[in-house]
Amino acid sequence: MNKERSFPEGFLWGGALAANQCEGAYNIDGKGLSVADVLPNGITGKIMSSDEGHYPFHDAIDFYHRYKDDIALFAEMGFKCLRLSIAWTRIYPNGDDTQANEIGLKHYEDVFNELLKHNIQPMVTICHYDMPLALVKKYGGWRDRKLIDLYVRYSKTLFERYKDQVKLWLTFNEINIISHFPFTGGGLLLDESDENREQIIYQSAHHQFVASALAVGECHKIIPDAKIGCMLAFIPFYPYSCDPDDVLAAYEQQQEQLLFSDIQALGEYSNFAQSYFAKKGINIEFSAGDDAALKDNKVDFVSFSYYMSCAYSANPEGKETTDGNILGGVKNPYLETSDFGWQLDPKGLRYTLNMLYDRYKKPLFIVENGLGAIDTLNENHQIHDDYRISYLKDHLIESKKAIDDGVELLGYTSWGPIDIVSSSTGQLKKRYGFIYVDINDERVGTLNRYKKKSFYWYKELISTNGLSLYK
Ligand code: BG6
Repeated sequence: MNKERSFPEGFLWGGALAANQCEGAYNIDGKGLSVADVLPNGITGKIMSSDEGHYPFHDAIDFYHRYKDDIALFAEMGFKCLRLSIAWTRIYPNGDDTQANEIGLKHYEDVFNELLKHNIQPMVTICHYDMPLALVKKYGGWRDRKLIDLYVRYSKTLFERYKDQVKLWLTFNEINIISHFPFTGGGLLLDESDENREQIIYQSAHHQFVASALAVGECHKIIPDAKIGCMLAFIPFYPYSCDPDDVLAAYEQQQEQLLFSDIQALGEYSNFAQSYFAKKGINIEFSAGDDAALKDNKVDFVSFSYYMSCAYSANPEGKETTDGNILGGVKNPYLETSDFGWQLDPKGLRYTLNMLYDRYKKPLFIVENGLGAIDTLNENHQIHDDYRISYLKDHLIESKKAIDDGVELLGYTSWGPIDIVSSSTGQLKKRYGFIYVDINDERVGTLNRYKKKSFYWYKELISTNGLSLYK
C-alpha cells in the first residue's frame, strides 16, 4: 500500500447523526419534549407549541427502533466510528428530574453494544440541539446558572453509565449556534428587537462554557482513558476583496466564531472577546470559580462542522448574497453552490484545518461534512449520487493535503450517513446519506433503506484507508 497517500493509521472513518434528526419516537419510553420537538420547520422556522401541523423531528427516520439494521449497514461500509448524540430528554425528561430514566439509559447502552459488536467506536455528543423544553419554561433556558448544575449532573450520569463503552465525547454541538439561533442553542426565547439580546446570549454562552469545562473535568476523572472535545460550526470567512475594510470585516466575523472554541481550547476569553463585549456594552457576570473551571479543564481535541465558506464584505449593499449553514454571506464569484445555495469550497477545508491547528495545537476531528442534495430513487431502487461522491472526494483530498501540511487529524465522520431530517428546514428532501430512506416531506414512504452509489464508494474508501481517492 502506498503509505504516503493513505490516511494515518487508525484514522477514524465514519458518519455522524443527531438524536433529534434520526430517532423519532419523540414521546415514548418516558422521553420528555425537547426544543426540537416544537420546531415544525427546523431551527430557522417558527417555534410552535401546539400539536397542529406536522413535526418532522417527531418521527424522523425511526432510528430509535431500527438502529440495529442501520448500524449493520454502517458496519458493511466499514465504519470505525459513529458520532451520535444522546437525547437529554430520554435521560432526564424535564432536565431537573430527581432520577434518571432507566429506559432511556438502557436504550443507549444497547445502541453502544451494537456498535461495539461491529467494532464501531461511538463518539457521543452530550447535547445536540435538543435541550429539554421544560428547562426553557421553568428557568428561561441557559440564561439561568442553574442549568450548569443540571447539565453537569446529566453528563456525569452518562460518564458513569457508559464509561466502559464510550471513549470519545463532545460537550455541545456547534456551541456557537447560540448567537444565531438562541432557542435551539440555548433555550432562549428572545425578541429580535430585544435590547438585551446580546447580553443574554453571551451570558448564557458563558454558562455553557463553564458547564462544558466542568463536564470535561468530570469526564477526565470518571473515564481517564477518554478524550473529550469541543464542537464548533466553522465557516471560513474570506474578505470579498483585498480592500482593507473587507479584510478587517471578514477577520472580525471570523473572530466572533473562534471566540467560542478559544475559550474551550485555550481556557480563557480572548482579547478579541473582551474588546468585542466592551464595544457592545456586554458585561459577563463571572461567579467565583468560573475562571479556574475554564482554565483547568481545556478540551483534548477540537472538532468542527465544515460545509462551506463565505465571502464577507464591509459594504454588502447591492452585492449578491447566498444562504448557508447558520450564516450566509456575500456570493463568492469563484465558487459553485449546492441545490440549497451553500457555497462549495473543498480548499476551504484545508485552509480551516491549518488555521485551527496553528491556533490551538490540538488534534482536530472533522465531525460533520457532506452534501445536502435532492436525490432520485429510480425504478430499480438505485440512486446515482455522483455529485455527492465528487463533493466528498474533493473535501477528503484537501483534508489529506492538510495532514501532509502537518495537521493532526483524528478522523472524519460525514454528516448524515443515512438520510435524516434537515436541522435548518425540517425537510426530508434534503439528503446527505450513503443510505437512502424512503420517506418524503409529506411522510409518505415505506421507510425502507436503499444503498446509494456513494455507499459503495465510501466502503472502498474506508477499506483502502483513503487510497481509492486517487484512482
Ligand atoms: C450542522 C448541524 O449545522 O449542520 C446538523 O450540526 C445539521 O445538525 C447540519 O443537520 C446540516 O444542516 P441541515 O440544515 O442541512 O440539516
